[in-house]
Amino acid sequence: MIMYVCICHGITEKDIQKAARSGVNTISKLAAETGATTGCGSCADMAEDILRQQTLQHDFLQVLSPQKTQFA
Ligand code: FES
Repeated sequence: MIMYVCICHGITEKDIQKAARSGVNTISKLAAETGATTGCGSCADMAEDILRQQTLQHDFLQVLSPQKTQFA
């Protein structure tokens, strides 16, 4: 199931997770990378939550196994 986060730009939850895995760790970087939050702005809170969750997951996995951490 596709979950759209930013309707204005057609950005999905998976798009945000993918951006986070490639190093995007702030809303401003996400906006520059994907355009999310740059329309009406109503997606900003949800986009930030997804970005934070993905970043925390990445940091947690790095602590557990820095050499073995890989993302699909
Ligand atoms: S829903 Fe993302 S900018 Fe409008």
